[in-house]
Amino acid sequence: MPGLGPSKCLSNRYIRKMLSFADAGEQDVFYDVGCGAGQLCVIAAKEFHVKRAIGIDYHKARVRMARKNVREAGVGDRVSIRPGYFEDKRLSDATIVYYGLTEGDDTVDVFEEKLQEGCKLVTLSQPFVGIIPTRVDYPFYLSVIPFKRAKTIEEWVRAVLFRAGGYDELKEELRADPDYYTDLRTLPRLMKKRFQG
Ligand SMILES: C[S@@+](CC[C@H](N)C(=O)[O-])C[C@H]1O[C@@H](n2cnc3c(N)ncnc32)[C@H](O)[C@@H]1O
Repeated sequence: MPGLGPSKCLSNRYIRKMLSFADAGEQDVFYDVGCGAGQLCVIAAKEFHVKRAIGIDYHKARVRMARKNVREAGVGDRVSIRPGYFEDKRLSDATIVYYGLTEGDDTVDVFEEKLQEGCKLVTLSQPFVGIIPTRVDYPFYLSVIPFKRAKTIEEWVRAVLFRAGGYDELKEELRADPDYYTDLRTLPRLMKKRFQG
């Protein structure tokens, strides 16, 4: 299982930007996997009027905090906070998923197995390794199930950096990139898995 993930929480403005970018609305079932204090779910329900919002977090104190925030915001009828690892949960009713955590070895496989076709998945600061996003409004990358795989490293690098380049240029840029928080030791492993089978 991945660790706690970055201690980075989205500001309300970024949350609104992300939900607008994903076209969240009354027809949607929104999931925040790794929901922390639950603020994304609160805004999704209160301001974007999603049908349901579900936050998942394995950290017990954060689950308690998120439940309190949901109650206080008066959206408890449409928001639930579920304790545990998202990798162990059913996600099949999701229409929008926000994933702000570091990509792990099996993250793409987990989502491809659990999410329904057409589900939108928004990642922060980068798309999953080897996956071509459908839309980008930096720092948000939106990919749709079934994921579109890059045929070459260069195709993927262009989708990440918005410029031509290969793997060396990517590493060079990411090393100095304050927005990039994925452990750079994981990247070669994921690149190998996605591009060399
Ligand atoms: C930094 S918070 C992000 C909160 C919120 N999504 C945001 O963007 O503002 C990340 C949370 O993800 C939780 N987390 C990390 N890995 C997880 C996993 N595999 N399953 C469930 N929760 C996880 C952590 O406990 C932490 O509370």
